[in-house]
Amino acid sequence: MLQIVGKISVATTLVFFGLTAPAMAQSYNNLALTPPMGWNSWNVFHENINEKQIQQIADAMVSSGLKDAGYIYLNLDDNWMAKHRDANGKLTHDPDRFSSGMKALGDYIHSKGLKFGIYGDRGTRTCHHYNNSDQFPGSESGSNGREDLDAKTFASWGVDYLKYDNCESNPNTQEKDYTAMSKALLNSGRDIVFSICMWEYKEWMPKIANLWRTTFDIGPAWISTSWYRGVYQIIDDNNKYWQNAKPGNWNDPDMLEVGNNGLSYEEQKSQMTMWSIMAAPIMISSDVRNMSNEVKELYLNKEMIAINQDSLGVQGHRISDVDGKQVWTKPLRSGDIAVALLNNNSSTQTVECTFADLGIEGEVEVYDAWQKENLGARTSVSAELPAHGSALLRLIIKPVPRKPFKGKAFAIPGKIEMEDFDINGVGRGNTTYNENDSEDHGATEGGSSYRPGTGVDIYKKATGYIVGYNQAGEWLEYSVKVAKTGTYTMSAAVASANSTSSFKLSIDGEDITEEIAVPQASSGENNYDDYNEVEASVSLTEGEHILRFTVTGDWMDIDYIKFCTEGQCEATSAIRQATPAAVQNITAPRLFKKGNALFIEKNGKRFDLTGHRIK
Ligand code: GLA
Repeated sequence: MLQIVGKISVATTLVFFGLTAPAMAQSYNNLALTPPMGWNSWNVFHENINEKQIQQIADAMVSSGLKDAGYIYLNLDDNWMAKHRDANGKLTHDPDRFSSGMKALGDYIHSKGLKFGIYGDRGTRTCHHYNNSDQFPGSESGSNGREDLDAKTFASWGVDYLKYDNCESNPNTQEKDYTAMSKALLNSGRDIVFSICMWEYKEWMPKIANLWRTTFDIGPAWISTSWYRGVYQIIDDNNKYWQNAKPGNWNDPDMLEVGNNGLSYEEQKSQMTMWSIMAAPIMISSDVRNMSNEVKELYLNKEMIAINQDSLGVQGHRISDVDGKQVWTKPLRSGDIAVALLNNNSSTQTVECTFADLGIEGEVEVYDAWQKENLGARTSVSAELPAHGSALLRLIIKPVPRKPFKGKAFAIPGKIEMEDFDINGVGRGNTTYNENDSEDHGATEGGSSYRPGTGVDIYKKATGYIVGYNQAGEWLEYSVKVAKTGTYTMSAAVASANSTSSFKLSIDGEDITEEIAVPQASSGENNYDDYNEVEASVSLTEGEHILRFTVTGDWMDIDYIKFCTEGQCEATSAIRQATPAAVQNITAPRLFKKGNALFIEKNGKRFDLTGHRIK
């Protein structure tokens, strides 16, 4: 008996696939997948910038090793522009200070292997022009209403990054104005990182920008009593938003004050520690033409940078604060955990962290980023830290070899999602796979995945995960447990673009079906998204068995097989159609705490800090 029972067509496949494709999943423009690093002119030079000096900064970024360490963006802040626009209404350079023009400056910056960042404003005048209205009467420096033109102008100069400020603007049109520039940049014909500078976070920002300033301007103090925010005040403010950060979307606690006067050495080191653990954009804003070795070493610390740039993209956050003695953690892609210890007191204090509190059993090796030293295997760390001092550590979590996995057998009657098989010991099914073709068909982590060592291509489609690229002779095995001897209806959701695709099932090596034809997609060639449920009647005996699904014809994709009490297989199209919203909704990894232990939640699934899936 063989019939098609449910037709599961995914008319909007292209749209969903676009959204869930790995490259697109994390950011509105697929840029800034790690926190941007570079240099910005404001904190050090304020409005006093000029062409020669910026070229020298570019040279210094290269010769000092900053560029090679990852500080790629050279960003001009306010006051690069002329007060008035040109005859075509375009923004243009200040004729005295940037006489060669912005295109020439961009070319110079690019010729050094750096990227070119610029500054704009959503209002009528930039902050400097607005704050100094007497010097800039009638200034046309703001982009309001001219977003498209300005974005295209920036693109024509080779701009790679736009910081977009908030002065002389309408408080009721924040979202509208920032969205207008975001769209204009997308349409500008150039990849331009979009950095919102609105001095506070709003929920609409992650959808339209790569980063957003979470606080008012930083200044050279630990705690400020002046109009600007001190470094520690900003750390505290920025921490509130830690769950918003993810690849392509970063909280921006403003530039570094490291290298400028105002902070003690320990405070400067702590700004680096905390910007690293908070996955903050690292924008140096000191005169890097004349750096002290001490400051240069702070900028160039490889481990500090690696923790900041970790591709998992989780913003570390404070997990404890006992009388100003703070512990911060940031999970890393490899399963390692970065830990920052911070002393927010004005006297020396000992800050401790017991790893059991982080959910870590036994000893782990600890690498100290500032001492550049492996501290050996430990169950805790404790550091005597001077006033406002910090330590930055990496807990090196060695993957624990898992015992060979003997998963629970799938229950029959019941449903088997075909992708549910053993991945390096983590998985629900006790399944093996035979591959004729061990090629990775371009499926990558994220939207879809290739399970290393298995040859199996697992794809995330609009309807959920499927096993793809199956060809004749390949098979998948599952351990199943049949509740009761009897006749069952087997229903498989399969898709093929070919008319000669088929499969069969066996139990413990004995065929239980003939070859079952896979219906060809109605729209024919290259369409592997037209799923159909095909049924067969099978006799099964009570107990544990090995079920094998063997591909006997041309290429096919398979989503699931169900075994139901005879004739009771309900069409699942309704359930399957409910899935796409969840599939599109790729969420930021989040850290949460259960008892004393920390876990990561990603895309609705929970993992311990070593990356293993938990219930
Ligand atoms: C605002 C911003 C600063 C800087 C100045 C320039 O204050 O928050 O970061 O760009 O404008 O005028």
